[in-house]
This record gives sequence, C-alpha cells and structure tokens, in this order.
Amino acid sequence: MIEILPSILAADFARLGEQVRQVESSGARMLHFDVMDGHFVPNLTVGPPVLESLRKATSLTLEVHLMIEDPDQFAPIFIAAGADQVLVHQEACRNLDRTMHMIREHGAKAGVVINPATPVAVLDEVLEIADSILVMSVNPGFGGQEFIPNSLKKVRQLAWKRRELGLHFAIEIDGGITQENVADAIHAGVDWVVAGTSIFHTVNPGAAFEHMRHTALEASRVSV
Ligand code: DX5
Ligand code: ZN
Repeated sequence: MIEILPSILAADFARLGEQVRQVESSGARMLHFDVMDGHFVPNLTVGPPVLESLRKATSLTLEVHLMIEDPDQFAPIFIAAGADQVLVHQEACRNLDRTMHMIREHGAKAGVVINPATPVAVLDEVLEIADSILVMSVNPGFGGQEFIPNSLKKVRQLAWKRRELGLHFAIEIDGGITQENVADAIHAGVDWVVAGTSIFHTVNPGAAFEHMRHTALEASRVSV
C-alpha cells in the first residue's frame, strides 16, 4: 500500500495544527515526526510535549523517527506521548533485536532506519521482526537536502529480500523526495514515502500532498 508521509520538520511549528489539517483533509493517513538530539545528528528538533499536543490534534498514524543516541531510554516515552510506530537507527542501537522487541511490548510498531553509508546486509537478522525498514536518502539531520541516488539500489535490494523471504515489512524512504523523483522511488520498491520540504515549503501543502500521492499511485501501476 503506497503512503505519502508528510514530515512535519518542514512545517511552520507556530501553525502546526492548521498545517496538519491541510494534509489530513487532502487524504494523508500518516505523519512523520523527526526527533533529533544534537548528538546522533548535528541538529535539535522537538520532543514528547509536541508529540503529545499533536496526538490530541489529529487521529492520523504518528510515526516517530528517533535520530538520537539513546533510543532505548526515549522510545517508551514517545510511545506514551502518542507514537503509533517508532523508527530507530541501526547505527544507534547496540542491541537492535532487543530494542525492536521492547518497542513492540510497549504497544507500537517497530521500524529500523539505515543511513546512506550503512549497507542493507546489516539488517538481515532483523528483517523478520521489522514492521518497516526506512532507507535514508540524505544524511540525517536536516530537511531540504539533495536526494542520494544510491539509496534506490538499497531499496531494490530490500524489495528483493522481502520477496525471497516472503516477508511483509514496509519499505520507506526519507530525504530529498520531490514531485520529480517520487516515481523513481516507487519503481524501486518503496511503499511509504516521507516528504517534508516538497509538501510544506509550498503555498498549498494540501495540493502538494495530493499531487505527490497521485504521482506515486500512478507510478505503482506502471511496471518497469
Ligand atoms: C532528515 C529527516 C527527514 C526530513 C526530510 O534527517 O529525517 O524526515 O524531514 O525532509 P525533506 O523531505 O525536506 O528532505
Ligand atoms: Zn525523518
């Protein structure tokens, strides 16, 4: 199932509720919430109080992307604040299998993220327990960066492994997605597309969302 997940990192935080309603009324079903701690990545964003407010403002599925040094400490806090699914970085987890089970035990879906320099092969032993795998298509830390084309090779590898193993995890991509390259991501095998700048840095986020979803759905119908 193709989904476009607007990343609120690119939204106007002073008008967050209003901007979320814009994409919600255009058909968004999931939102992507970026958490940065200034250590795992060189930037800071928002924490549990903002997620809690967002949880009260929308019934959309909330996906929390933890770009932090200590996901084990904070994942339960974000789940209590309203996260439906939590994404942790393979690079930040010393005991990834344990962390993913812990997220599940706290009642959320568990996903894993790999950075551009991390190969798909490091995930072989957790593919079976992952609800989703996210391929970073920029180095994490900032919105508005340029898409790294090599990430599509990794998406194709994941799609192949999923088919070979008969698994069902969703394949996500995050970073530098535009109206122009979203079809390439879908053709490579992406199910869930995270997009920040190309949705919220426009005059009409709702229309930008609809346009991207339409392009993605069309791409999913054309086999290449
Ligand atoms: C970057 C974040 C992304 C970011 C993507 O580290 O993980 O979710 O919001 O932003 P764009 O779509 O602007 O590249
Ligand atoms: Zn993200």
